[in-house]
Amino acid sequence: MKIMLGITGSIAAYKAVEVLRKLVEAGAEVRVVMTRNAARFVAPLTFQALSARPVLVDEFSGWDPSSIGHIAVSEGLDCALVAPATANVIGKAAAGIGDDALSSTLLALDCPLLMAPAMNDRMYRHAATQRNLNVLRERGVRIVDPDTGPLACGAEGCGRLASPDRIVQEVLALFAPRDLSGRTVVVTAGPTREAVDAVRFLSNPSSGKMGFALARAAQARGARVRLITGPVAIDWPAGVDVRSVLSAADMHSAVMELAGDADVVIMAAAVSDFRPLQPSGRKIKKEAAPDEIRLERTADILAELGKNASGRVLVGFAAETDQVLEHARAKLKAKNLDLIIANDLNREGAGFGEDTNIVTMITRSGETTDLPLMSKDQIAAKIVDKVAEILRKQGESA
Ligand SMILES: Cc1cc2nc3c(=O)[nH]c(=O)nc-3n(C[C@H](O)[C@H](O)[C@H](O)COP(=O)(O)O)c2cc1C
Repeated sequence: MKIMLGITGSIAAYKAVEVLRKLVEAGAEVRVVMTRNAARFVAPLTFQALSARPVLVDEFSGWDPSSIGHIAVSEGLDCALVAPATANVIGKAAAGIGDDALSSTLLALDCPLLMAPAMNDRMYRHAATQRNLNVLRERGVRIVDPDTGPLACGAEGCGRLASPDRIVQEVLALFAPRDLSGRTVVVTAGPTREAVDAVRFLSNPSSGKMGFALARAAQARGARVRLITGPVAIDWPAGVDVRSVLSAADMHSAVMELAGDADVVIMAAAVSDFRPLQPSGRKIKKEAAPDEIRLERTADILAELGKNASGRVLVGFAAETDQVLEHARAKLKAKNLDLIIANDLNREGAGFGEDTNIVTMITRSGETTDLPLMSKDQIAAKIVDKVAEILRKQGESA
């Protein structure tokens, strides 16, 4: 996957660092082109180091004399992305102006182009900017709409660069097969909280990253995705129905409600196995703290789904510290799963809160696939590949 990343002179230029990092993590070869103004916000060296390639800023000086910069960069690309895109570069692209390395490269492209605008809300709402964006849309350019919220200039409004996750999600969606269209996929993510009293709870360090990556991966392949998440601090994926829950009991009722007509249920949430038996509705005073908190088991959502399998593909996770594969195989069988993802919490780079993971996938028939250290997005893509394969085989044998 060869991608050109264009960066322009917006205050959001620093966010392009994260966009580049995520594209590289997803396995892309990225060629960076910056405007001279972008290079005043973030040094090209940062992008050179992260992409491990030279950055094109000024093709009239310092560029390899054996090639013409904007032509060489535009050749053999699978897609191009401008993030952030200033009002200026959007206007130049709409008008077909090529007066620097980036705008000339945009004119020489022969691949899909995405642009992620970032600017003050008045600049964004300006009739000229809106007309230029429409001209680009009509020409087939995909615009990654900006977010609404506080802007760097102190104003509130629409114009904030879309999150790096959303931008990369839209780029990767161009490459994904649409083999899950017409399918409904329910994904759970994050931790649950079990109240001890009005201000205290039992929980776990699940960040939700794995579940969110799975929701993005299934959505990119055309599925209708419903994500049920416990409390997390990450951006919600674009184009996904998100239901936010707090406790294991809330998670249980949301899953039972939404799993009914789902083709696939992926339980990536770290649902608490037990909860305080008698949570207090008020704050327990320090002096009155009990010596013990009695616990009771929460409902086993996976087991309940496994009992009423009804032809849907059921995927579970086993995060373990001991005898990981043995426990995972036993769980696969006991809960009547189609696929289990075993996760050894002792290994560096695996488990809660990390951006990476190391897992083993085990199917109902015992087929075992080890996935070495990879980003959670890459792992999610492999898991969704396997789910698509199971659905395909089910279709063939039906
Ligand atoms: C501090 C600062 C922040 C700016 N942020 C933006 C921005 O977010 N979006 C935008 O369209 N222009 C922004 N501008 C104005 C652009 O830098 C200006 O239009 C410039 O000509 C864009 O050049 P380029 O499109 O070639 O990179 C900003 C200017 C300054 C000084």
